[in-house]
Amino acid sequence: MPVRTPARVVVRVPAKLNLHLSVGPLRADGFHELTTVFHAVSLTDEVTVRPADRLSVSVTGEGAEQVPIDGTNLAVRAAALLAEHTGHEAHAAIGIRKGIPVAGGCAGGSADAAATLVACNALWGTELDTDALAGLAARLGSDVPFCLQGRTALGTGRGEQLTPVLGRGSYAWVLALAHEGLSTPAVYRRLDDDRESRPAVAADPADVLAALRRGDATLLGRALHNDLQPPAVALRPTLQTLLDLGDELGALGGMVSGSGPTVAFLARDPDHADELSAHLSGSDICRAVRRADGPVAGARVVG
Ligand code: C5P
Repeated sequence: MPVRTPARVVVRVPAKLNLHLSVGPLRADGFHELTTVFHAVSLTDEVTVRPADRLSVSVTGEGAEQVPIDGTNLAVRAAALLAEHTGHEAHAAIGIRKGIPVAGGCAGGSADAAATLVACNALWGTELDTDALAGLAARLGSDVPFCLQGRTALGTGRGEQLTPVLGRGSYAWVLALAHEGLSTPAVYRRLDDDRESRPAVAADPADVLAALRRGDATLLGRALHNDLQPPAVALRPTLQTLLDLGDELGALGGMVSGSGPTVAFLARDPDHADELSAHLSGSDICRAVRRADGPVAGARVVG
């Protein structure tokens, strides 16, 4: 019996935070060697794919006007790569509903690419397994494999080599979204420039991993570390004001997420997170405040 093509496939995909991010030397391929602890949180994008006679993308929601809708869109590139790899025609109408901040350091574009791989794989019946999808994901961007996998994972290489992290508990986060995005390559360049006068001090993720094993939010708050935070703050000094405000309000820890400018604060529990959110949303340093819990699963079909 011929397999029926679904009328649509809907995939939900989470934002990521980096609970630890240490940046090593710049490699010959233009990427930096990383050691990072990725953590997926419940701030999500939704990607819907439908059968079509060409490949297209439309974007709605938060910051949609800043997302390209041509062949440079990472979701379009994901569909094209899956088609090329499987020999399937690259035909689909991709609809992205943004909940993850655009250019916010939370892997929004990578999340959409991961979701599109999962969605088109189901729509087209191409049946690639998780490992094969992860291989394609790594070709699209450093964070795309993690967006497929979700939960909490140690990332090495340029971030694409993943090992799941054993941990317990759920963590209540408050994310402060910035008025304007930051360019990831610009933040890495600033780090390289700063390191010419001040050599890097190597940081390791042991404290974050120990806190996660114990499920201890207080320890986790103290252990959060991001080498990209100083260059992000140098490029956007108001981020320091925001970090100081979270500290004054009693957050267990606060950090710039990835290359920023989103700032993530860890709360004691969901009630404390609601309290922090209410205070932070009164501040004009950030555009909006979102509550999110982690860890959560990676890209998955929801309809
Ligand atoms: O892999 P992705 O497309 O997300 O990377 C965006 C940019 O971030 C790269 O072009 C590079 O400038 C920087 N980057 C890096 N080292 C990494 C990951 C990203 O320098 N490990």
